[in-house]
Amino acid sequence: MDKTNNPSVTRSSFPLVPIRSLGPRHRDRIAAHLLALDESDRYLRFGYAASDEQVNRYADGLNFERDDIYGIFNRKLALIAMAHLAVSDDPVQAKAAEFGVSVLKAARGRGYGARLFDRAVMHARNEGRDTMFIHALSENTAMLKIARNAGATVERSGSESDAYLKLPEATLATRLTEMVEDQMAELDYGFKQQAKHIQELLS
Ligand SMILES: CC(C)(COP(=O)(O)OP(=O)(O)OC[C@H]1O[C@@H](n2cnc3c(N)ncnc32)[C@H](O)[C@@H]1OP(=O)(O)O)[C@@H](O)C(=O)NCCC(=O)NCCS
Repeated sequence: MDKTNNPSVTRSSFPLVPIRSLGPRHRDRIAAHLLALDESDRYLRFGYAASDEQVNRYADGLNFERDDIYGIFNRKLALIAMAHLAVSDDPVQAKAAEFGVSVLKAARGRGYGARLFDRAVMHARNEGRDTMFIHALSENTAMLKIARNAGATVERSGSESDAYLKLPEATLATRLTEMVEDQMAELDYGFKQQAKHIQELLS
């Protein structure tokens, strides 16, 4: 549900959102998440209305060693939101990272997009990156709002916009917070796995 359609849902209603780091074994769920996006969302996410084949190719081609992929799972362990923090192979851009994100329609307006952005920013800082880059269509109010809220400079060029966020250096606090958040997300995932297993046994 979009926040615009559901004003009672606010980010503060969902204070703790475990965000999990995803790996190659999550490829199928990543593909399922992206395939669930409709044509206009795929257009906003990829800059073109990606076909199922193109989505599958994107999921198959994800490089988990170079890039970082984050996900938010619901109680049934469906991936309801995911973000891709990509770094360039070009050494000139080695200090920059590019952010892409998608949240399933039913889970929108709860701050997941913004939280994934914050999570990616923290990781990028801890990895020594100095700039976060977001390429979005100019009509993508929600994405550009996330970037602007974080302090990014947005440069509009017709129907497309680029947002740049300068990242401060990592601190002990950002490093510790990332470690704690990773642990919490692992625990949360384990609990959800157990709960799902018990529910399956009972039914
Ligand atoms: C962009 C997207 C990830 C936002 O996810 P979300 O979880 O709904 O976003 P949030 O709840 O964190 O909201 C972020 C901000 O955008 C605002 N916002 C959310 N939906 C909005 C909308 N439809 N119109 C205007 N503003 C909107 C929120 O109010 C919030 O701003 P605030 O913190 O100042 O109140 C989601 O809409 C999406 O998946 N879109 C399709 C794919 C896409 O566009 N990806 C981005 C390009 S890489």
